[in-house]
Amino acid sequence: MTDFKQMYAQKLTTADELAERVQDNWVIAMDTGGSQTPDIISAIAKRAYAGAIKGVTAHTLLDAYPFEYFADKELYGKLTGVSWFSSGGARKAINGGWADFIPSYYRDIPGHVRRCYDYDVACFNVSPMDKHGYFSLGGSNSFSEAILDKSKRIFLEVNEHQPRTVNGLQIHISQVDGLIEVSRYLPVITPPPIDEVSSTIGNLIAERIPDGACIQLGIGAVPDATGIALKSKHDLGIHTEMFTDSMVELIECGAVNNSKKQIHKGISVTTFAYGSQRIYDFIDDNPSIAFMPVNYVNDPNVICQNDNVISINAALEVDFWGQVCSESIGTKHLSGSGGQIDFVRGAIQSKGGKSFIAFPSTAKGGTISKIKSELTPGAVVTTSKNDVDYIVTEYGVAQLRGRSLAERTKQLIAIAHPDFRDQLTFDAKKRGILI
Ligand code: COA
Repeated sequence: MTDFKQMYAQKLTTADELAERVQDNWVIAMDTGGSQTPDIISAIAKRAYAGAIKGVTAHTLLDAYPFEYFADKELYGKLTGVSWFSSGGARKAINGGWADFIPSYYRDIPGHVRRCYDYDVACFNVSPMDKHGYFSLGGSNSFSEAILDKSKRIFLEVNEHQPRTVNGLQIHISQVDGLIEVSRYLPVITPPPIDEVSSTIGNLIAERIPDGACIQLGIGAVPDATGIALKSKHDLGIHTEMFTDSMVELIECGAVNNSKKQIHKGISVTTFAYGSQRIYDFIDDNPSIAFMPVNYVNDPNVICQNDNVISINAALEVDFWGQVCSESIGTKHLSGSGGQIDFVRGAIQSKGGKSFIAFPSTAKGGTISKIKSELTPGAVVTTSKNDVDYIVTEYGVAQLRGRSLAERTKQLIAIAHPDFRDQLTFDAKKRGILI
């Protein structure tokens, strides 16, 4: 029998030694948040700063650490970040021009990787090796399979704090080119405080969600508040892109049992987990949750196989057509599309399904209405007028799907902040939408 421990010992090295192997123009790939490898990247950045390598690129998604290629403009051209979904430091770097961005539906990223890219090295933070020689990728499996298919090498950070997920992706020691050992708690995002507005919106949505529904919650205070408002429901199911703190809450209080799902009955399905330490403790060794590739989880044709799919996502602004912008403020880039459209489409195709785009009626301390006559020039449309279903603010719910432009406009003005309704009505009349 192969001695996996011996193979492990042979591949065990230091971050600096792994960085020494990196050559000019290599392309590095990482998957989401907790599976990213800051020690290895910092060692590579050190070589780039020293002028030992140039033209190296890191492809990444939802960065959990303050990676040097986003934080420091000086690295541009030596070690450059390219994001599939920006957050945190990536936003500043993309807007500043020293990092790049690849637009995509989340579900399509594995296909783009397989079609367009060849990676020199894939880097993953993994759980300690089991007795069969396998490392678990923990709470991340969104496009890792595609990365593995297209990478010449694999470098690992083996982390005692990385949970071992049983229904997720595993890497075998025989596939690995080099590994280091680290001891680091996974990155946490503290759930945003749930204020009165988010709570009101959450309750408005929860009233429209039946027992037995299958839910997806996006990022932010409103999806979280909705999660909390669902605690009184029964027999809910989870089929979601991101597994969040509020979902752990719903499972632990008994509101979710996945018993009414048509596919993956009894199991919560997701593609990555990101939140507090509570999530990482929950997913460790837990057979009731499955981490599956995003091209499967986010495929609308898969999502809609469950009945009563309810998708809840946030947005930055919405115009009278119901065009939803969730990615930019004018030309200023803020985020990728993520899985918003994947789940909007999956939900509206599901029997009894509904998609909610929800947000407070105003931004910037009440000075800006998020419901607008036209999107800010340069804004990116995330969900189109033809897919949009329900829009929710603290003032109510607009149901746009199948409705005319005038009906949409009237409904949206009715849920805008009262301070902006006269101006919006004036704009609608000026445009000839209302008379
Ligand atoms: N005009 C100007 N500024 C606005 C604005 C508007 N209409 N709406 C929001 N803002 C500002 C906020 O004030 C805030 O500014 P600050 O950072 O200076 O405080 C910033 O934009 C972010 O707004 P916020 O409401 O805090 O957004 P969020 O962090 O909750 O994220 C999205 C909202 C839409 C960016 C987020 O949901 C997202 O990334 N969506 C991507 C796609 C998606 O839905 N994926 C879901 C699948 S998991």
